[in-house]
Amino acid sequence: SLYSVVLPAAGIGKRMLSEIPKQYLTIAGRTIIEHTISVLLKHPQIRRVIVVLNPEDAIFNTLPIAQNPKVETTIGGKERADSVLAGLQHLDEQEQWGLVHDAARPCLSLNDISKLIAIAEQGDIGGILASRVRDTMKRSDTSNTILHTESRENLWHALTPQFFNLTELKYALETAKNDKALITDEASAIEYIGKPVKLIEGQASNLKVTQPEDLLLAEFYLTQNKNSHY
Ligand code: CTP
Ligand code: MG
Repeated sequence: SLYSVVLPAAGIGKRMLSEIPKQYLTIAGRTIIEHTISVLLKHPQIRRVIVVLNPEDAIFNTLPIAQNPKVETTIGGKERADSVLAGLQHLDEQEQWGLVHDAARPCLSLNDISKLIAIAEQGDIGGILASRVRDTMKRSDTSNTILHTESRENLWHALTPQFFNLTELKYALETAKNDKALITDEASAIEYIGKPVKLIEGQASNLKVTQPEDLLLAEFYLTQNKNSHY
């Protein structure tokens, strides 16, 4: 089957401390968001990308990729979850499943997209890409003193794309929003309504460009393999 991707890109990238929103910073000759969209559109099971923009965005529509017929745009909201909901409104009634991916994650691999779809399609609700935690994990009190060491065995980093049944996802995001629950990714909304979410192990190189030092690392991954197979 073919799927749509909702791509939240309405953030301003506070932690990046740059003048323009981080998705418009250039790595290896192209903006981050262009790298992200082009990987997504290379995947044979992705039919279009709904880019969710900040109402003040004056950049996206000036990029060549905005002219791609598989790229559509809509306007986002205050929190990431509001932007995702806005993107979901843009999808057709007949679409049963879809992906959500951060604009700020340009280093995802085609192989991980395939893996996510293949495994998550087998369940009822969906799943997310995730990577295993590597370091020893400490729990602290509020003054940064260690309380104990957490077992690393069942700890994961939540990544995107996240792939869900769209009826479930909309219901979960709306329920969490009404209850003012803290939602940081789609999975956390599904967890909130008590439904199971599958973790599908993906590459840790699929980082979210968040802080200035992430730019060099993203450049390394993007130029190393040209993103086609790793
Ligand atoms: N996002 C969005 N709408 C919001 C907030 C975030 O669409 N109201 C998007 C961002 O553009 C980004 C993705 O969600 O692609 C992940 O969010 P994050 O990495 O936190 O980006 P920002 O919110 O822009 O960064 P910061 O938190 O540092 O301000
Ligand atoms: Mg943010």
